[in-house]
Amino acid sequence: MQRLGVNLDHIATLRMLRGTPYPSLLEAARIVQSSGAHQITVHLREDRRHIQDQDVIDLLKQNALPINLEMALSEEILRFAIKRRPAWVCLVPERRQEVTTEGGLDLRRHRIACAKAVARLKKAKIKVSLFIEPDARTVAQALELGADAVELHTGKFCLATQVKKPKALTIARERRRIAAAAQQGLSLGLAVHAGHGFDFDNVRDIVGLRDDRGLPLIQEFNIGHAIICRASLVGLEQATREMLASVQAP
Ligand code: PXP
Repeated sequence: MQRLGVNLDHIATLRMLRGTPYPSLLEAARIVQSSGAHQITVHLREDRRHIQDQDVIDLLKQNALPINLEMALSEEILRFAIKRRPAWVCLVPERRQEVTTEGGLDLRRHRIACAKAVARLKKAKIKVSLFIEPDARTVAQALELGADAVELHTGKFCLATQVKKPKALTIARERRRIAAAAQQGLSLGLAVHAGHGFDFDNVRDIVGLRDDRGLPLIQEFNIGHAIICRASLVGLEQATREMLASVQAP
């Protein structure tokens, strides 16, 4: 069965917008768990724009699902991860000004730093995935660096499906890149995850990728923005009713 990790960064984004105590990340994690998700994913960014250290500590203590901690190659956060021991760390590139993670890790450029970080995390019994572009050569490098998994950056594919006039050829090309990288990962014995930019439609196309024996090419999907956006609409009726009750029957 393919697994779903729900990225809760934007629950924290909403909280940080006003500095309010709500929405509660722990409550969000409970809802996600009772809805059947397999994992909570959070990105502890160097600028702490959404998830805070305490959020990770609370989630690790008070939530039952495994935590997949996304983080940059930062000594400070590396030490935090090793001390707190989430089930998984996903190493990602990070740029201060970016709206969200742009592109995968450059494993050639950061080879030594990556290998050292992977070794330290694995020594602490934390499984490690590397967030990379869907490219077969980069997948092979991830294995050399000691990773347990690759998480394939699906941003280009997803963007191609979301533009005003989607081009079938571009979508097919990006899909093929993801399939080839995933196939390479599986044949090397790596776990293959995917994430970035998925919505409720385009994800189906990637979930459906199969190998020669009909087995899924991708075992885990980490999805955030689309789920939180949808939640803001499907939850709006209940939230409005609750506020009406406060206003009309205080
Ligand atoms: N996986 C990784 C490594 C990410 O950096 C992100 C974005 O934080 C996601 C998955 C989730 O992406 P999205 O919010 O677009 O679903």
